[in-house]
Amino acid sequence: MAVIAKNCPDIKVEVVDINEIRIKAWNDNDVANLPVFEPGLAEIVKKSRKNNLSFSTDVESSIKNADMVFISVNTPIKEKGMGAGKTSDLRWVESCARQISKSAEGHTIVVEKSTLPVKTAQTIKDILDSSSMYTDKKSTFSVLSNPEFLAEGTAINDLENPDRVLIGGDDLDAMNSLKNIYLNWIPDEKIIFTNLWSSELSKLSANAMLAQRISSINSLSAICEVTGADIGDVANAIGMDTRIGNKFLKTGPGFGGSCFKKDILNLVYLSRYYGLNEVADFWQETLKINSWQQNRIYKQIVEKLFGNLAGKKIAILGFAFKENTNDTRESPAIDICKNLLNEGAFLNIHDCKVKKETIQKDLFNNGCIDENLSWSYKDNVYSALEETHAAILITEWSLYKTINWGEILSKLKKPFWIFDTRLILKPKELNKLGIKIWQLGYGNNI
Ligand code: UDX
Repeated sequence: MAVIAKNCPDIKVEVVDINEIRIKAWNDNDVANLPVFEPGLAEIVKKSRKNNLSFSTDVESSIKNADMVFISVNTPIKEKGMGAGKTSDLRWVESCARQISKSAEGHTIVVEKSTLPVKTAQTIKDILDSSSMYTDKKSTFSVLSNPEFLAEGTAINDLENPDRVLIGGDDLDAMNSLKNIYLNWIPDEKIIFTNLWSSELSKLSANAMLAQRISSINSLSAICEVTGADIGDVANAIGMDTRIGNKFLKTGPGFGGSCFKKDILNLVYLSRYYGLNEVADFWQETLKINSWQQNRIYKQIVEKLFGNLAGKKIAILGFAFKENTNDTRESPAIDICKNLLNEGAFLNIHDCKVKKETIQKDLFNNGCIDENLSWSYKDNVYSALEETHAAILITEWSLYKTINWGEILSKLKKPFWIFDTRLILKPKELNKLGIKIWQLGYGNNI
């Protein structure tokens, strides 16, 4: 919404939420306190707040006055009941649809922005249409699907220069209204129209294909380790084939983030629902390789540290699911850390953006284990490393590339191991210092 406000000075953009604390944070004078860290976002918010971008809790009147409403709520995986662990929990989408039907006046275009299972637009339509039948307001609605392809950490650039903008719907006027907004900064040929279901399915499929590429390269990283091949060389050679392309071929500790796992689970659920079990099994394997990758990293750590972590201190470098974000949803760090704690290790956890409270919640579900007994939050990477037996590099923050290992060497336990799951450190230099290093896709060859 901030990027729309920036590029469309004539459009008034009102972001509303029932959560007062969050809205207050979005209005904070000090933009360093905005709830989401995203490079470039704070500057746009700061500028646009003075003009056509506002944040409030006045949901009702905002909807009443709106020509277009974007539903942009969370759609996590369902925790209980039918489809638990497999499909999205749509309670917030449903309550938005009910709120819109209650408050809207005249004709309103409702845009699905949240990533949703295929056919959700029908649910939204049904709610909007049925409730307006029982009032004399005579409100009317058009429902569009406009999935978001931005990636965290590069969101502003992805929004300013998208590969494509997808608009799904069956009301051409409404589709053109939305297109006209994007035309303010995106060329016509990049904006595509499809029907609602193709649009919803394209979003799930794009994420599933991206995740599948990561599982493919991660599976190859394990083959490299046992054969002596070099995953960097293999990825480079594969990526030079223009049919394959060189993006999304970096091996790592497994994909995290709010989308990939959830979207694949939705695809698997949809396939099974329609009796397409082979299709479901195919996509399920992508997830299986992802957890296997996290697990095998943890096993390497235990093995290299003589099969015993009890009483050992380990530094965790990075907790976010990737660099340039404070998001930890589905971060591989969570499972790796839980497994290490379970072995009796004490963890010094450092991250450039993730807060202590988030880590506490992710690891202990809000604090059943006393922080000081099993882990410690470190805001300085050197103090995170002090007196540790090993360091596990999980997030590729550039800060970690500049660590002066020589400076901290005397404070590390020996033998000292580094497990570099992002391939950003220089093994030869570390070896010269007597530090042992294991890198994904290179294994013991170093
Ligand atoms: C993803 C999609 O890229 C985006 O189009 C969609 O809108 C939302 O989901 P995001 O989850 O923000 O975006 O991050 P992305 O950059 O795709 O990375 C996802 C995960 O894959 C991260 O954990 C990342 O570290 C990992 N990854 C990515 C790799 O391990 N290797 C790669 O080559 C690329």
